[in-house]
Amino acid sequence: MERILLVMVGLPARGKSVLARKICRYLRFIGHDARIFNVGSYRRAHLGDHKPAAFFDPNNPDGSEARQRVADTALADALSWLRTGGEVAIYDATNSTRARRAHLLEHAGRASVPVLFIESICHDTSIVESNITDTKLRSPDYVGVAPDAALADFRQRIALYEQAYEQVADPDLSFVQVIDAGRQVVVNRVEGQLLARVVALLLNSRLLRRTIWLTRHGESVFNVRGLIGGDSPLSPRGQDYASALGRHFDSVPEGLVVWTSTLGRAIDTGRHIAAPHVEWRQLDEIDAGICDGMTYAEIAARMPSLASARSSDKLRFRYPQGESYLDVVRRIELLILELERRTAPTVIVSHQAVLRCLYAYLVGEPVEHCPHLAMPLHTLVELTPSAYGSDERRILLAPRVEERPSVMPPPVDEV
Ligand code: F6P
Repeated sequence: MERILLVMVGLPARGKSVLARKICRYLRFIGHDARIFNVGSYRRAHLGDHKPAAFFDPNNPDGSEARQRVADTALADALSWLRTGGEVAIYDATNSTRARRAHLLEHAGRASVPVLFIESICHDTSIVESNITDTKLRSPDYVGVAPDAALADFRQRIALYEQAYEQVADPDLSFVQVIDAGRQVVVNRVEGQLLARVVALLLNSRLLRRTIWLTRHGESVFNVRGLIGGDSPLSPRGQDYASALGRHFDSVPEGLVVWTSTLGRAIDTGRHIAAPHVEWRQLDEIDAGICDGMTYAEIAARMPSLASARSSDKLRFRYPQGESYLDVVRRIELLILELERRTAPTVIVSHQAVLRCLYAYLVGEPVEHCPHLAMPLHTLVELTPSAYGSDERRILLAPRVEERPSVMPPPVDEV
């Protein structure tokens, strides 16, 4: 197994932690064991909250020594985690001087762990400004501090870091530079399959806030009858939901695009939204194979061992001639990169299983939870990613639909 240390680099308010979290979430979603070691959290845990800007002055010997100590503790933890089975440690700190990076390379080299530096650079001051106001003032460093005081202190901290900052420039190092929130990406000496995935994510990521709405299609005729799969039309209640969805987006946000699956019920549900529509096969519902068109009760009665296999491992269970949840996770991987590239708001109209997986990715839920996440009909899930997770709102747009439990009932011979 490849082990690797990803080292974030950059001045404060350049979106390093957002990037670190995005990489970690993506790697976990595609099946790798990744963990973030955030030096700021170590500093707060070891040295207390609310350190004033002067603490970060490179000419303050006490501050520098204390910061080096917590940075080393975090690094030692990252390397020991890698030694004991961890796969990708993401070391999140400014690491903004050549000396600090040489120190990191020396320790990682002794542990035979390869290093990739990921530097975030912003020439565009408007990006820095929005990072400062949108995210930093919500940082644990400034809890309970008046916004004006926090802003002044944080600007001073950035100025102190700027005095000592040296961009990564050594052509012998492995590094990726993400410039202006992904407008430009420089890749230098990156090898290996796992890092190729990280690079693919960075090439596609735009670190800008934009809202994503997820919704299942409106109630379908199959939903009414409790049948899974198929391509049945919307029921009258489903059509009401489609109209309500259209009304909800009456004043269409700028650049809005509607993504639907290729199935009729999803296309129909989105049709009242006045924005460009794109159909994706990747958004089609999980393929229930030989069970397509059956009720859960029928499956349990006719194929009890299949039903119990699904109940005991719903994530990995693959319908004969169909798919498992893990297959769905793999199938939407490329779609996720496409979604990461978007800078404008997107409405996604799809299906229960696929949306559970997409939602898990967007909010950072472990893949194991996918098959059990709540994704009710007639509910619009509004997600706005932020530096500290995703803001979520669930909007009920039409009368709630009571569905049959989607976990198969126990096989009849076991009742
Ligand atoms: O019942 C609606 C539906 O979208 C089916 O087409 C699909 O098989 C099912 O939900 C997925 O949910 P679960 O994995 O819980 O059976």
